[in-house]
Amino acid sequence: MRLSTALYAAALAAPALGTPLNVKRAGDTEFDYVVVGGGTAGLAIAARLSEDPSVQVAVIEPGTYYQISNMVVGEVPAGCSLFAGSDPKDTNSAVDWDIVTTPQAGAHNRSLHIARGKCLGGSSARHYMVYQRGDKDCYQQWADDVGDDSYTWDKLLPYFQKSVNFTAPRSPPRAPNATADFNPDAFAPGAGPLRVTYTNYASPISSWVQKGLTEIGILPTTDFNSGFLMGSAYAASTIDPETMKRESSQTAYYEPAKNRLNFRTFIQTKVSRVVFDEGKKATGVMLTDGQFVKANREVILSAGVFQSPQILMLSGIGPKATLDKYNITVIADRPGVGQNLTDHAFFAPSYRVKVETFTRLAADLMYIATQYLFSFLGSKTGPLINPVADFLAFERLPKGLVSPETQKLLDEIPASWPHIEYTAGSGHIGNFSNRRKDQPKDGYQYGSIMVALTAAFSRGTVDIRSASIDDLPVVDPAYLTHPGDIEVAVQAFKRARRVYGSDAMADVLADPDEYYPGVGVQTDEQIADAIRKSIGPLGGHGSCTCRMGRVDDPNAVVDNKARVIGVTGLRVVDASSFAILPPGHPQATVYALAEKIADEIKNGN
Ligand SMILES: *[C@@H]1O[C@H](CO)[C@@H](O)[C@H](O)[C@H]1NC(C)=O
Ligand SMILES: *[C@@H]1O[C@H](CO)[C@@H](O)[C@H](O)[C@H]1NC(C)=O
Ligand SMILES: *[C@@H]1O[C@H](CO)[C@@H](O)[C@H](O)[C@H]1NC(C)=O
Ligand SMILES: *[C@@H]1O[C@H](CO)[C@@H](O)[C@H](O)[C@H]1NC(C)=O
Ligand SMILES: *[C@@H]1O[C@H](CO)[C@@H](O)[C@H](O)[C@H]1NC(C)=O
Ligand SMILES: *[C@@H]1O[C@H](CO)[C@@H](O)[C@H](O)[C@H]1NC(C)=O
Repeated sequence: MRLSTALYAAALAAPALGTPLNVKRAGDTEFDYVVVGGGTAGLAIAARLSEDPSVQVAVIEPGTYYQISNMVVGEVPAGCSLFAGSDPKDTNSAVDWDIVTTPQAGAHNRSLHIARGKCLGGSSARHYMVYQRGDKDCYQQWADDVGDDSYTWDKLLPYFQKSVNFTAPRSPPRAPNATADFNPDAFAPGAGPLRVTYTNYASPISSWVQKGLTEIGILPTTDFNSGFLMGSAYAASTIDPETMKRESSQTAYYEPAKNRLNFRTFIQTKVSRVVFDEGKKATGVMLTDGQFVKANREVILSAGVFQSPQILMLSGIGPKATLDKYNITVIADRPGVGQNLTDHAFFAPSYRVKVETFTRLAADLMYIATQYLFSFLGSKTGPLINPVADFLAFERLPKGLVSPETQKLLDEIPASWPHIEYTAGSGHIGNFSNRRKDQPKDGYQYGSIMVALTAAFSRGTVDIRSASIDDLPVVDPAYLTHPGDIEVAVQAFKRARRVYGSDAMADVLADPDEYYPGVGVQTDEQIADAIRKSIGPLGGHGSCTCRMGRVDDPNAVVDNKARVIGVTGLRVVDASSFAILPPGHPQATVYALAEKIADEIKNGN
């Protein structure tokens, strides 16, 4: 679906949002900090930096308000599954970058759309809203890789807490059999801007999946925000507890800060490159309209996992061979730029079930309309306020199921770091191409279980296809190209099947036979093939393409303070600068990193 430019015009006027937009004004060409990208990290760091009224902060964002460019769908939690499929046509270009991968050798040569938010809020305005932190050992790994103890769980916890304003789950309206447990100590009361809570409407299938998981030995745990992930639980979500609307970096960080006199936002504005002086200090950015925006102190790239490395390369920082190929003057030869792309991709067997799922919403427009008017706007309950994936589980793959070589690799993953994530899926997912269109229209409701490898070994790349920002980067996540990954995936698939095949779930199945990929898929080869034909990305998990590391690591791109190695005055703060991709859903870590680096900058580091 392509929305007309009229929506963009509406965005500039933005009457619907009440307050005037603080947009670019003539003469606004000099700031202390220029943040490139108003996404998850960008708005968080810009809002924090602008707390000091003596510094001038600008954010440059190619998109606009998603409340306008992705009207209703952007704010209603269940809308997250729309225009986000792996089919390149399942997009809303007004709010999406339309990134399509190279043909994926590990995924039947399919080229997959990866949904990415092009708007204030970035992918926090598109993703599934799961608020979940990594485990203790993954942050220890980050600290070890970077040689900086401040990335350990204990030291990061204050930044996780600083970003969040937590509201406990309410039951009722949550169903009595869907009580969400939580650890109050994981949060500091009312501390930060980002509202985190549990949806008022739990997906009915989740309570059944929980029982099935228990039967295969994955037991209920308290929460996923205290440094331990093994077990199953309802996930917290970035949802406003009062309105049950999506919370994003725009609603949380930007709205309260945007009218500060020292804070400027350029929307619908694109940066073509970072500009350096003779001494390799970043002095500002060049916009695509030829205007130079000066940064007296720093340029901060928060353009995300694909475009932060792209902008670095276009600015002369990257693998020398790539820069030479496009006649880009080399400022710093950093071979790691665009390398080590780490992502989570999902596959999901599905079943006919007796409880209502997203299948009904997708099939019944009248139902959506009444749900919207009466339940969403009215009583703040019903399926529209469910973020589609509200129940998660993590485990280490039981030993002895894979080859000795792969087992060895799995054993090397630090102990508290799970190998696999399972998510109760409300609806049929199939090959991820289009979650609305692909729902079967045979009157049945469908449930699924989404499986992801949270310690995958495959690594991909981001490359440039020209010296121009107008050409999207070449994205190759290389899903399932490491032989160990397909072995683990096949075993994880079998475990997921056992969940729906459990005695505990028998009563909720409307048909004992698996619907997708179906009972005909039995041997390991058949299962591997089914996985390769259906695996798909969720959009917000890609990371590590401007990897943080030690200054003497030639493949590292940024140092422990997110400063680009080899130049000065330039940082990269977003999931691209992660040292590792924590298991599960990364937004909590993105916000914590933005909070941490904002603090470093304020402290003069
Ligand atoms: C994918 O493409 C490669 C190269 O063109 C080809 O050798 C291979 O058979 C293809 N695989 C599938 C599953 O189509
Ligand atoms: C935290 O969220 C609650 C619920 O939305 C709100 O009433 C409260 O003002 C928020 N606190 C802070 C410090 O923002
Ligand atoms: C939990 O309650 C919901 C809503 O009443 C219901 O649809 C679902 O089947 C129940 N789950 C179990 C496991 O009984
Ligand atoms: C790079 O510059 C050379 C020499 O000026 C030119 O022949 C070549 O076409 C240029 N390549 C690109 C990709 O612009
Ligand atoms: C990829 O990441 C690994 C582990 O962090 C690191 O050892 C390696 O050097 C990286 N490779 C590149 C090309 O960045
Ligand atoms: C994905 O599934 C849909 C619906 O089942 C189908 O129409 C489409 O051809 C499939 N796409 C691929 C690439 O297999």
